[in-house]
Amino acid sequence: MKTEILTLLRESEDYVSGQELCNRFGVSRTAVWKVMNQLKEEGYVIEAVQNKGYKLKENPDVLSLSELKSRIHNRWAGNTVYFYEETGSTNIDAKRLAEEGAPHGTVVVADKQNAGRGRRGRVWQSPSGKDIYFTLLLRPDFEPDKAAALTLVMALSVAQAVEGSCAVQAGIKWPNDIVVNGKKVCGILTEMNVEPGYIQYVVIGVGINVNLEDFPEEIVKTATSLLLESKAEWPRAELLQSVLKCFEDNYEKFLRTHDLTDIKEEYTKHLVNCNREVRVLDPKGEFEGIARGINAAGELLVETEKDKIVEVYAGEVSVRGLYGYV
Ligand code: BTN
Repeated sequence: MKTEILTLLRESEDYVSGQELCNRFGVSRTAVWKVMNQLKEEGYVIEAVQNKGYKLKENPDVLSLSELKSRIHNRWAGNTVYFYEETGSTNIDAKRLAEEGAPHGTVVVADKQNAGRGRRGRVWQSPSGKDIYFTLLLRPDFEPDKAAALTLVMALSVAQAVEGSCAVQAGIKWPNDIVVNGKKVCGILTEMNVEPGYIQYVVIGVGINVNLEDFPEEIVKTATSLLLESKAEWPRAELLQSVLKCFEDNYEKFLRTHDLTDIKEEYTKHLVNCNREVRVLDPKGEFEGIARGINAAGELLVETEKDKIVEVYAGEVSVRGLYGYV
């Protein structure tokens, strides 16, 4: 009932009468009053006026199951949602839930992770109350070799949502770091369970630095937050819903061809490395060239000499700008 009341309050321009809520949910006035008090305790500013009812005056940055459920209205992405105040890693939770049979589109969200994982075995700092940590579970019905490109689908979705919601320009550093003003605001860790010729499930873990103000010394030059770049705080649940919505749309485009044909142009528009000199750190041998975009498989196209294009597969390779992180 809390989620439904929150949704009603948010969607109503006017006061919502207490009696109407009692009738709708078949509960007493006291029960409604208790829910209002719970919401107030969570930080919502709710005005109660006699003979008029209740009105949501302010929706602060609350991350809770009710807040998420009252925001997420998609065809499938996030229709099943788990929320943890604190967990080890949402990727690990999502993999466990996948093994237990959780459906395609399940989302696991945490306010804090105490064992947040980054790519290449790194730690992802995940303090509470500031950032977004979530993992989306997918059960794709296509060949396993196509799945690596899903991480680029998520990168594009985060970039679009950040631009749509947070008044900043978001770029993508191939394959899947989101950058604002040359610094990283989001990382993505995709993992999958694959049988020969068949994908059991894919989990896409996303960490977005939203309202964090201080970064550890080792990453302060390359990492930032949406708050630091836009000088404003952003409600995390709203941004998360926006990412899920964008992902749902982009994923459905991906499904038409099982590759990035329909979204590679949009991805390339956000590609901060595009037409810049890059160094490709390939374990088989480093080389330099000019990044020219991506192909439908999500490989980076690097021009090493006039008209000679090398297709770089993300796997073991990483790419650096010649003059800094981007
Ligand atoms: C990177 O190194 O750039 C990827 C970071 C991915 C972090 C996210 S936070 C939510 C999910 N759970 C994890 O443990 N990692 C991912």
